[in-house]
Amino acid sequence: MSETLTIRRPDDWHVHLRDGAMLAGVVGHTARQFARAIVMPNLSPPVTDVAAAEAYRQRILAAVPEGMAFKPLMTCYLTDRTDPAEVRRGFEAGVFTAAKLYPAGATTNSASGVTDVANIREVLETMAEIGMVLCVHGEVTHADVDVFDREAVFIEQILAPLLAELPTLKVVFEHITSEEGVQFVESAGGNVAATITPQHLHINRNAMLVGGIRPHAYCLPVAKREKHRLALRRAATGGSPKFFLGTDSAPHAREAKESACGCAGIFNAPYALESYLAVFEAEGALDRFEGFASLHGPAFYGLPVNADTVTLERGEFMVPDMITAGETQLVPFHAGETLGWRFRG
Ligand code: DOR
Ligand code: ZN
Repeated sequence: MSETLTIRRPDDWHVHLRDGAMLAGVVGHTARQFARAIVMPNLSPPVTDVAAAEAYRQRILAAVPEGMAFKPLMTCYLTDRTDPAEVRRGFEAGVFTAAKLYPAGATTNSASGVTDVANIREVLETMAEIGMVLCVHGEVTHADVDVFDREAVFIEQILAPLLAELPTLKVVFEHITSEEGVQFVESAGGNVAATITPQHLHINRNAMLVGGIRPHAYCLPVAKREKHRLALRRAATGGSPKFFLGTDSAPHAREAKESACGCAGIFNAPYALESYLAVFEAEGALDRFEGFASLHGPAFYGLPVNADTVTLERGEFMVPDMITAGETQLVPFHAGETLGWRFRG
């Protein structure tokens, strides 16, 4: 059995880098493994225009540790009042790579999100025209829809009708968590793809709820029952170019997660590739890892693949219980567990 695996340098097609001291503490973890990342705009206040995205991009670049080459790809946070001309201007200027649809109230800092997709109809028409990717947080937010059904209901009520009306719009269905999500993406046209996180490949909802409530396994969309995890593993490792890597690494201070109302988000950036690779190895799909991690995303976004490579080597190591970002303690995904591959660089 081979002891090392070398692939084109991957990109992370969905990450939360935060801002300020947290940004400075976490960006190096992403930049160490990935050449580029689609950076989520759900800051407070959110990144809703070109000037804010450009300023945020500069803060990210200033926080990247010396010696690391990293290119943040910025996204525009859509609101009910987003101006289509601003989105077009940002895309044409190379500031916005994509725009992000958060249904209002779906997740962290989504209060200014979209209350009804009809309100951004012109923005979406513009995006379809210019070939700009729409990144979608695919969950409905109605109080009467069970949290475990919110993705499937979103497909039925929002995403399928939207794509029927705008059949050429490029959509990345972010962090899919369900069999319905996999099936929808597989049966859609080539303009529809999905990212898959490491946590949704490793854990089902039992990890969150059995033997005590485990806030570090809580993210949104929430992990679902086992059949969904298995569908996601088949999708990620099956070789289809419609599925690619997007960690959704979403750091929150330890005390904000270990709380009576804990924040959603799993901090997986420090060992993201090791985590994904464990899945590909268990599924006998090491030969498909490069496609998922490094090739399918650039192809969908119409960007070149990275010129350099990274190597992972076999060797067990234990993920630390805690990682600090400045003064803040973060509990990483897989804390205290042993993984079987190590990132060499
Ligand atoms: O778990 C999550 N955390 N899901 C999201 O959609 C947002 C993210 C965050 O920003 O914390
Ligand atoms: Zn996210």
